[in-house]
Amino acid sequence: MPGAGEALVRVVAAGINRADLLQRQGHYPPPPGADDVLGMECSGYISALGPDTTDGRWTVGDPCLALLASGGYAEHVVVPVGQLLSVPDGVDLITAAGLVEVAATVVSNFDIADVGEGDVVLIHGGAGGIGSMAVQYAKALGATVATTAGSPDKLAYCRSIGADLAISYRHDWIAAVRDLSNRRGVDVILDVMGATYLGEHVGLLATGGRLVVIGLQGGRQGTLDLGRLLTVRGRVIATTLRSRPVQEKSAICRRVEEAVWPLVGDGSIAPAPQSRFSLADVVSAHSHLESGDNLGKVVLTVSKP
Ligand SMILES: NC(=O)c1ccc[n+]([C@@H]2O[C@H](COP(=O)([O-])OP(=O)(O)OC[C@H]3O[C@@H](n4cnc5c(N)ncnc54)[C@H](OP(=O)(O)O)[C@@H]3O)[C@@H](O)[C@H]2O)c1
Repeated sequence: MPGAGEALVRVVAAGINRADLLQRQGHYPPPPGADDVLGMECSGYISALGPDTTDGRWTVGDPCLALLASGGYAEHVVVPVGQLLSVPDGVDLITAAGLVEVAATVVSNFDIADVGEGDVVLIHGGAGGIGSMAVQYAKALGATVATTAGSPDKLAYCRSIGADLAISYRHDWIAAVRDLSNRRGVDVILDVMGATYLGEHVGLLATGGRLVVIGLQGGRQGTLDLGRLLTVRGRVIATTLRSRPVQEKSAICRRVEEAVWPLVGDGSIAPAPQSRFSLADVVSAHSHLESGDNLGKVVLTVSKP
């Protein structure tokens, strides 16, 4: 049952994230105090409210979304009420389950990097969960967007959601990105690769550029060219959402509702395509994400919407 400041949610659907694969393999334990059941986001209905949740916002029976430290792959999950979110207009509960983690990650990192009108932004993996949200949110903020992907159909999808440049990461994306910026360099890079491209990324930064590392798919240790960084007065920032305290996560959820949900509601941001599996078929769902073939998000369906 929920404790003070918490809600119990009956889960309808749970988004799968790459971190879940790492946690399953024993490489990414949940934050201290969090359940070791997988699942960092879900949709559902509030089935009980604990003490100190009577600010009037939530009532038992309300549909909701939740940003979780863990526990989403389940029929019920307990979550701090600050980490509950409304469902964006016009989006069904299964689709919405795949929006929470990507929206929270993208808006919080774009806020840190101060992405704005006229910026040239590089986003790797534009057809992935994070990438598809980042491309569309950057376009909505008025940025020029370069993105990479690994196959022709994924590149076509990136163009369909507004990317100004979509190029295979197996080709010479560095020259193409530099050309897109009129050889000025890029203002912001949202980096899911880490070590693999550290040198290239620092070399691509425009004066005042920000490299924001959120993923380490290409390794965690590299060589940082501090000389280049100080010449361009650049910044390297690295963040993770999951280990943030409840208060910070709650503030990010409010930012998502304020800045992202209206764009989803008016169609400026279209939820990424989803591959759906039942909770009982979670092994296939993980294999599908691991294969690298997936476009958009992978979502587990748990109970009737
Ligand atoms: N720090 C945080 O708070 C936070 C929060 C959420 C996610 N993340 C991280 O963000 C990353 C993306 O997560 P996700 O849920 O969006 O997973 P995802 O949908 O599986 O996306 C992974 C992306 O990486 C791309 N990629 C693979 N190899 C690449 C390469 N050599 N060069 C450029 N791109 C490459 C893939 O592109 P193709 O599919 O086209 O091959 C795919 O779009 C993961 O590393 C995850 O751990 C971090």
